[in-house]
Amino acid sequence: MTLIKEIGRRRTFGIISHPDAGKTTLTEKLLLFGGAIQEAGAVKSNKIKKGATSDFMEIERQRGISVATSVLAFEYQNIKINILDTPGHKDFAEDTFRTLTAVDSVIVVIDVAKGVEEQTEKLVEVCRMRKIPMIVFINKLDREGKDAFELMDEIEQKLGLTVTPLSFPIGMGYDFKGIYNIWEKNVNLFTGDPKKDIEDTIEISNLNSSELDQLIGEKSANILREELELIQGVYPEFDKESYLEGNLQPVFFGSALNNFGVRELLDCFIEIAPTPRPKESDTRLVKPNEKEFSGFVFKIHANMDPKHRDRLAFIKIVSGVFERNKPYLHVRNNKKMKFSSPNAFFAERKEIIDTSYPGDIVGLHDTGNFKIGDTLTEGELMNYKGVPSFSPEYFRYINNADPMKSKQLEKGIDQLMDEGVAQLFTLEMNGRKVIGTVGALQFEVIQYRLEHEYGAKCSYENLNVYKACWVESEDNKSEEFKEFLRVKNKFLAKDKRGQLVFFADSQFTLQMTQQKFPKVKLHFVSEFN
Ligand code: G4P
Repeated sequence: MTLIKEIGRRRTFGIISHPDAGKTTLTEKLLLFGGAIQEAGAVKSNKIKKGATSDFMEIERQRGISVATSVLAFEYQNIKINILDTPGHKDFAEDTFRTLTAVDSVIVVIDVAKGVEEQTEKLVEVCRMRKIPMIVFINKLDREGKDAFELMDEIEQKLGLTVTPLSFPIGMGYDFKGIYNIWEKNVNLFTGDPKKDIEDTIEISNLNSSELDQLIGEKSANILREELELIQGVYPEFDKESYLEGNLQPVFFGSALNNFGVRELLDCFIEIAPTPRPKESDTRLVKPNEKEFSGFVFKIHANMDPKHRDRLAFIKIVSGVFERNKPYLHVRNNKKMKFSSPNAFFAERKEIIDTSYPGDIVGLHDTGNFKIGDTLTEGELMNYKGVPSFSPEYFRYINNADPMKSKQLEKGIDQLMDEGVAQLFTLEMNGRKVIGTVGALQFEVIQYRLEHEYGAKCSYENLNVYKACWVESEDNKSEEFKEFLRVKNKFLAKDKRGQLVFFADSQFTLQMTQQKFPKVKLHFVSEFN
C-alpha cells in the first residue's frame, strides 16, 4: 500500500533549455515554492560561460563538495518533486541526453525574445522521440519579445510539437499587465514585485464581465477576449491523456525572475505531470508498482576532492522499494552488493536514507563497480535499455606523456570513460587508443582530471574522423562483411565494450561505404548495455 501511495505522489522531471533562457532561475523559484530554499541565489548556476575549462572545473569542484545540485528534491502540497539537473552547455549535451532517460517528464524553458534556440531543438527532439510528456514555459515576459501567437507557431514548426496554451499573457515588456490562467480561469496581475503574495489572483469566471475591464483596462480586456476566442478556435483543447502520451504540449507564460506565472506552472504540473512511468528492459516492461526493487545508473559523478576519491553513482529507482543494507544484484557483474550509506538529495543537502521509492534518485558510493547504464535488481537477470551512447564529434589519439605512470593513466581513462565523460576506441590495426567526445572542451577536462585525480599525464594527436558508426552485420560470415572488414581495416576500431566501430573520415566516405556495403548497417547511436 505504501508503495502505491508513494509512487502516486512522485514527480521526477528535468528542465531543459538553451543556455540563458532561465532554467536556473526557474529551478530556484520552484524550490522557493517548496520551501526547500529560503532565498534567491541559493541554486548554483551550472553555466559554463565562454566555454572555459576553468568554469567547468569550478562547477565540478563545487559539486564535489555539494553534489546535491545534480538532483533537487522538495515537497509541494504533499507531492515529492525530484528535479534532475541537466547541463545546458552543448559540450555536455550527452550528459543531458542520459539524464533524460531518468526523467518522467520535462519542462522546456524558452526565452520570449529569442524563441526556439539550437540546444532547445536538439533536446526537445530527444524527448519527442521518446514520447516524454513536455510542458513549455515561455519566460521573460517582463521584457519585449515575440508575439505569443507567433512564438507558439515557431514552437510547433521548429520543435515539431502540438501546443495549447494554458495561460496567456496580457501585454508584454513595459506593457505587461499579467497573466490570464486558462487552466484555472483567473487573472494574476503583474506588479513586478517578486515577493507579491501569490494568493493575489482574481477569479474571473465570466470573461465578459466588466470586472475584467476594471482590472486591466477596457482596451486590454477586449484584446484578451479576442485572443482567448482565437485560442479556442485554433488550438486543441487540453487533454491530459494526449499530453501524457507525448502528443500535446501545454504552454505557460511568465517571468521566472519575477516569480510570476511560476505558481500557475507548478500547480498545473503537480496535477497533470506523470507519476513514475514503467520502463522497458531487455526482457520485459517493468512497472513501478512491482514489489521487487530495480533501478539503473544514469550518471556517475566523480568526487573532485582529492581526499575522497570515491564516486557517486546516481540510480533511478524504477520499481519496488530500495532499502539500505539489502543485497542487490549488479547484473552486469553478476555480483550481489549492499549499500550502507545510500544518499537522497535535497536542495541544499544530501542525507543517508533507509528506503526510497520509484521516481527517486539515490546516490551510491562507488569504488569503480558501476558504469552508466548498469542495472540493479533483487536477482532478476535483466538490463534496462535506453541509456544511449552517441557518435562523438571530435576525435584525438591519446598518448601517455609520462611512461612511469602508465598504470595510473590506464585506470584514469578507464574510470573517466565509465563516467561517460568521453568514449574510448582502440584501433584494430595497431592498438592505438582514440578518445571521442561530443564537445572540444572535454579533451581539456580529461587532461586536467587525469593529472589532478590520477597523477597521470597525457598528450593528444589529431585524427581526422568525421563520424564513428557502430557496425552491425546481418551475417558475419557473408562475403560482403568479410570484404568490408578487409577494405576498411585501417578505419576499424573497438569501443570499450568490444563493439566494432567504423571511422568515416568524411561524409562522402560514409555515403560510399553505405552504398558499397548495403548489408552492413552503420549506426550513429549505441546503447551502453
Ligand atoms: P539558464 O540557467 O537557462 O542558463 O539561465 P539563468 O536562469 O541563469 O538566466 C539567464 C539570465 O536571464 C540571468 O541574467 C537571469 O537573471 C535572467 N532571467 C531569468 N528569468 C528572467 C525573467 O523572467 N526576466 C528577465 N528580465 N530576466 C530573466 P544574467 O544577467 O545572465 O545573470 P545574473 O547575473 O542576473 O544571474
